[in-house]
Amino acid sequence: MTRRVYIKTYGCQMNVYDSQRMADVLKPLGYAPSETPEAADLVILNTCHIREKAGEKVYSELGRLAKLKADKDGMMIAVAGCTAQAEGEEIVRRAPSVDIVVGPQAYHRLPQMIAEIHRGAGRALDTDFPALDKFDVLPCESGQQGVAQFLTVQEGCDKFCTFCVVPYTRGAEYSRPAQAILDEARRMVAGGAREITLLGQNVNAYRGAAAGGTWGLGRLIRALAEIEDLRRIRYTTSHPRDVDDDLIAAHRDVPQLMPFLHLPVQSGSDRVLTAMNRKHTADDYRRVVDRLRAARADLQLSSDFIVGFPGETDADFEATMALVRETVFAQAFSFKYSRRPGTPGAAMPKQIAEDAKDARLQALQELLIAQQTRFNRSLVGTTIQVLFDKPGRHAGQVGGRSPFLQAVHVDGPTELIGTMAEVEIEAASQNSLSGRLAPAHAEAA
Ligand code: 5AD
Ligand code: SF4
Repeated sequence: MTRRVYIKTYGCQMNVYDSQRMADVLKPLGYAPSETPEAADLVILNTCHIREKAGEKVYSELGRLAKLKADKDGMMIAVAGCTAQAEGEEIVRRAPSVDIVVGPQAYHRLPQMIAEIHRGAGRALDTDFPALDKFDVLPCESGQQGVAQFLTVQEGCDKFCTFCVVPYTRGAEYSRPAQAILDEARRMVAGGAREITLLGQNVNAYRGAAAGGTWGLGRLIRALAEIEDLRRIRYTTSHPRDVDDDLIAAHRDVPQLMPFLHLPVQSGSDRVLTAMNRKHTADDYRRVVDRLRAARADLQLSSDFIVGFPGETDADFEATMALVRETVFAQAFSFKYSRRPGTPGAAMPKQIAEDAKDARLQALQELLIAQQTRFNRSLVGTTIQVLFDKPGRHAGQVGGRSPFLQAVHVDGPTELIGTMAEVEIEAASQNSLSGRLAPAHAEAA
């Protein structure tokens, strides 16, 4: 019997990868993907807990799903991901229609949990951090197709930034063995992947077991670069403290490693950085950036910022603005501090008023958007390599990504998908580029 599963993914790329793994583990049970919750026998919400808004979304979605379930015999609702981990009991209390609550370290137990429900158990809840590694048990052969894919190499976090729930929802830092990653990458490339983004909450803290000792991320990237037909390698998210010499050297030596790096700094004020327990100063960050840019001159940066952390003064915020003006980012994410229960920041005095957070966020975003737009426009008139990965917005167009992860659209046939081509950039907006295939490719196409 074919059953259908609908998975809705919130939050980070790690969740995107996990959702795919859940689909894989459910396939042998006869679950095929469903396009809508209405057509599904099992709905999984893969949740994010990073900020309050993300956490609340799941409850409104569960309200909608409860109505759907009331009209539909035998439908199951599962909540997975970081909110499941952090608020398992609370979810069941607030949304009694939920059948399964499963934390990020327990996805390999989903089949068993589903079987329990079928046998008549009222509900299944698993938010343990089991000793057995989920990666050893989850299938990775992956029916997943796609030119650009994610591959989790590291999970969890030991850094305990005082604003962040991740150490509590994803557990301690863990690195997968290098061989398992290389095997999975080869399978992805054999299946058509041309770009792989290595994922980890602290991806550059990677310390994986390998033949002959432990590998860091730089070493892993060099080994991946030997896979034929793997044209592009990226990694995210990194911590400034874990950028080591070998990783910087990899940026210099490995052409497949793209010149675009997401390196969150959060704040430009040393006082705030200390309160956040980031364990680096603003100048440490400047130095790391200088060394990376010295290794790879065309490197562009992305970052994350939090405004309104407890105790942040106008002068602290100005220090963040100064760091941004000086460093120049090609892209960035910025957020108002969100008080997360159970984290040290939530209990700190001098919480910042919402209107002050709003004003700071607006000022910061204006600056970041101006930098992003300026960088995009600086590419007009240049020729860049684009990896095409999907049909474009309009008929006769294809879409791809620049080395700097910008979306690029050109007129061209869908046969280009999966290939790289040179594109002359003709126009740029805040969020994307467009252009035309450089003459040699235009003829070939
Ligand atoms: N409030 C606001 N932003 C947060 N982030 C993490 N925790 C919080 C929080 N409590 C942001 C950080 C991090 C990104 C993934 O989310 O900037 O780098
Ligand atoms: Fe959200 Fe962080 Fe969990 Fe990713 S790891 S889903 S960003 S809380």
